[in-house]
Amino acid sequence: MIERIKTSADYIRSKVDFQPEVGIILGTGLGGLVNHIDIKHTLPYDEIPSFPVSTVEGHAGRLIFGLLGGKKVVAMQGRFHYYEGYAPEQVVFPVRVMKMLGIENLFVSNASGGINSSFRVGDLMVITDHINLIPNVLIGKNYNELGPRFPDMSEPYSKALTALATDVAAEKGIKLQYGCYVGTTGPTFETPKEYGYFKVIGGDAAGMSTTPEVIAARHMGLPVFGISIITNAAFSGQKSTHEEVQREGAKAEKRMTALIVGMLERM
Ligand code: HPA
Repeated sequence: MIERIKTSADYIRSKVDFQPEVGIILGTGLGGLVNHIDIKHTLPYDEIPSFPVSTVEGHAGRLIFGLLGGKKVVAMQGRFHYYEGYAPEQVVFPVRVMKMLGIENLFVSNASGGINSSFRVGDLMVITDHINLIPNVLIGKNYNELGPRFPDMSEPYSKALTALATDVAAEKGIKLQYGCYVGTTGPTFETPKEYGYFKVIGGDAAGMSTTPEVIAARHMGLPVFGISIITNAAFSGQKSTHEEVQREGAKAEKRMTALIVGMLERM
């Protein structure tokens, strides 16, 4: 596995003379961030040896290298979800490659269903903790070169980056919610009782991504900032659809972009 990560990283370095400082996983709602990146290089996933290839509707598949908010970033346009059938190791493969390329912080975004009844559709929720209900990506042989067998998870999302987000949001007049993200395998949205269960155990929003990548990042000691767009009011008992998730995600794009760029400028 380590060899495959190295093969990918070596290939990328051979093609791209650019040392990124921050990795960004562009989930739903952050797609438009690409338009703000001063792009230096792009690499389609299918060109990179050992890299998985994205399949899901609404997610392209390439690495974008460039400047954003004055920082050197590598952005993943298109991520790998457990529900697509990828092995857990493949889901987090790009995060490990980005770490090998030298990133020092990871930003992740996603869309989620609001469980906290004080949330409204369109709200941005800073992820302060998560409950991972996807089989743990670190099950199996531990790669000591990447991190310890039993990684600490006391600060899954960086408190410093959360505080920075709060400052930037206040400055720009962006409303933020804070909460716990419940990561599920999908692809089904939840039943009413499942949403109720997530609420009881302390969840504020539910989604089908992010926790695997965050676990892999924390395993390697990478600080993480996570942000979620509440795209459907899961607690309302109404139907959830992919179209609604995409539509609400698109609406929040401007605020998400302003927040992320503002944070990068101040890092
Ligand atoms: N549940 C799971 N994943 C989601 C949801 C949801 O309600 N909304 C967007 N992604």
